[in-house]
Amino acid sequence: MIESPVIAATYSGGWGPRSGDEAARTPVRFAVAGDAGRRIAATWERATDGMTGPGSSTSTSKPQPRGYAYKKRFYRDAGVAELYDEERFSGPWKARRNRSKWARIETALDRLGPDVRRVLDLPCGTGRFTPALANRGLDVVGCDISLEMMRRARETGGAGGVFVQCDAERLPFADDALDCVVSIRFMFHVDPATRVTILREFGRTARFQIVDYRHRYSYRYMKWSVLRKMGFTRRPLERVSRDGLGREFQEAGLRVLGVFPVARFFSDKWIVVSERL
Ligand SMILES: C[S@@+](CC[C@H](N)C(=O)[O-])C[C@H]1O[C@@H](n2cnc3c(N)ncnc32)[C@H](O)[C@@H]1O
Repeated sequence: MIESPVIAATYSGGWGPRSGDEAARTPVRFAVAGDAGRRIAATWERATDGMTGPGSSTSTSKPQPRGYAYKKRFYRDAGVAELYDEERFSGPWKARRNRSKWARIETALDRLGPDVRRVLDLPCGTGRFTPALANRGLDVVGCDISLEMMRRARETGGAGGVFVQCDAERLPFADDALDCVVSIRFMFHVDPATRVTILREFGRTARFQIVDYRHRYSYRYMKWSVLRKMGFTRRPLERVSRDGLGREFQEAGLRVLGVFPVARFFSDKWIVVSERL
């Protein structure tokens, strides 16, 4: 078996924390006593994914919502990389979610057709979709800012891809070096201004893009809106509207070709297909 290389790209810089990105969160206290209080606390905890306050998440592979700069560092921890797959994608429900996501990516690739041969899987993480892309006969390069995540991708990926460590904000590839960038489970970590920078980089390096976005038209967003109006949560839940999505892509010099929901109502994920303008 040929061992695929993990290449550390020459670019480094700008990976440090940004001011304001890691503002401390104010813990929320529950003033309602007894069962009612516990019910409210439980609802709040579920709605906020156990981010702060009582019963905070103990998951070691799940980042806290402290902004993009924190998340950029979070996944570079070996312990996080080791537990990532087990905590995110194991079990029948999560495996099903994986299949739905892959089905939509395939729909998007089918839509783009044979023009797509060279694909950048960014961020590839632990290689969730890298082997599946390669098994479709595509030439795949896996990229991530975390060497630890990519090490797992190489160990478990099997498909013999090439992995390059780099920052999505400044890709170490020439203009048009690729046909398509596939970017899954990433943009929701990123603030809107940086998303535009990253989309521009995607458009510079590849004509087509398949990008996973989180939108507002879901049960989760509705529940969060109600809880926020009632004062049970103050945390932001950033989700794009359809118009906002179009504006964001346009600002990055891209045209949205199609938007595919991963599942109806209970999922807040879109697979967005776009092309350089
Ligand atoms: C939630 S994981 C998603 C990985 C994979 N696409 C998946 O679906 O499992 C997010 C990944 O983004 C990577 N990441 C964060 N900021 C990055 C950046 N600026 N450039 C490249 N990768 C980045 C992290 O290292 C992490 O592996």
